[in-house]
Amino acid sequence: MTKSAWQGDLVWLRGVEPGDWEHFMAWERDGEANRLGWMVHLPRGSEWARKAALEQSAAASPDNDDHRFIITTLRGVAVGTINTHASDRVNRRFQYGISIAREHWGHGYASDALTVLFRHFFGEKGYHKVNAWVYAFNERSRRFHENFGMTLEGTRRETHFSNGEFHDEHLFGMTAGEFFARHGRPAGSEPGPD
Ligand SMILES: CC(C)(COP(=O)(O)OP(=O)(O)OC[C@H]1O[C@@H](n2cnc3c(N)ncnc32)[C@H](O)[C@@H]1OP(=O)(O)O)[C@@H](O)C(=O)NCCC(=O)NCCS
Repeated sequence: MTKSAWQGDLVWLRGVEPGDWEHFMAWERDGEANRLGWMVHLPRGSEWARKAALEQSAAASPDNDDHRFIITTLRGVAVGTINTHASDRVNRRFQYGISIAREHWGHGYASDALTVLFRHFFGEKGYHKVNAWVYAFNERSRRFHENFGMTLEGTRRETHFSNGEFHDEHLFGMTAGEFFARHGRPAGSEPGPD
């Protein structure tokens, strides 16, 4: 059977479906994970989740490459979400945010999701650079990004307010060349313009 371009060794990246509203609600309840990934929201209800899932399931991103994916296991269990943002086709760089549901941490799902996403953005769309901001208090994410082979490019000081104080943010980055050197090019492909 032909392997999907969006399939990795452990996970599959698929678009949002209207039925994902239940996952949005479940993930919303882990306020501390939300704090690590972005921010703690005001409590939101099921109509918000239904609307968000419906709108995102209809989003085709025709004008840019900002898009949300659901990360599933190869058996189809939804374990988290990843979204691209600040996609810039002129400078060929993009950013992303990733969140795995706590009960699925430590199984390699985030690493595999990044691999699938980067392979597409670098290998199919011609992007050259990816960046991600990691809050200084998010030790796990920092270790995760280092283990993935990303470089700490800098720190901006006291730019993020959470839990009553300002925190530094670390910028991690990787070029297409660095990604392919570490994770390999798809079989049969020629080196592209990095
Ligand atoms: C940070 C986060 C995305 C990492 O997700 P994850 O799926 O647990 O990450 P991975 O499993 O791919 O890698 C994490 C660890 O598991 C290990 N691992 C990798 N493959 C593995 C496997 N097959 N089996 C067991 N462990 C594995 C990795 O080596 C890594 O080890 P470490 O503890 O030394 O870092 C997740 O903790 C999360 O969503 N946190 C909350 C939101 C957040 O912080 N988002 C990032 C904002 S920048």
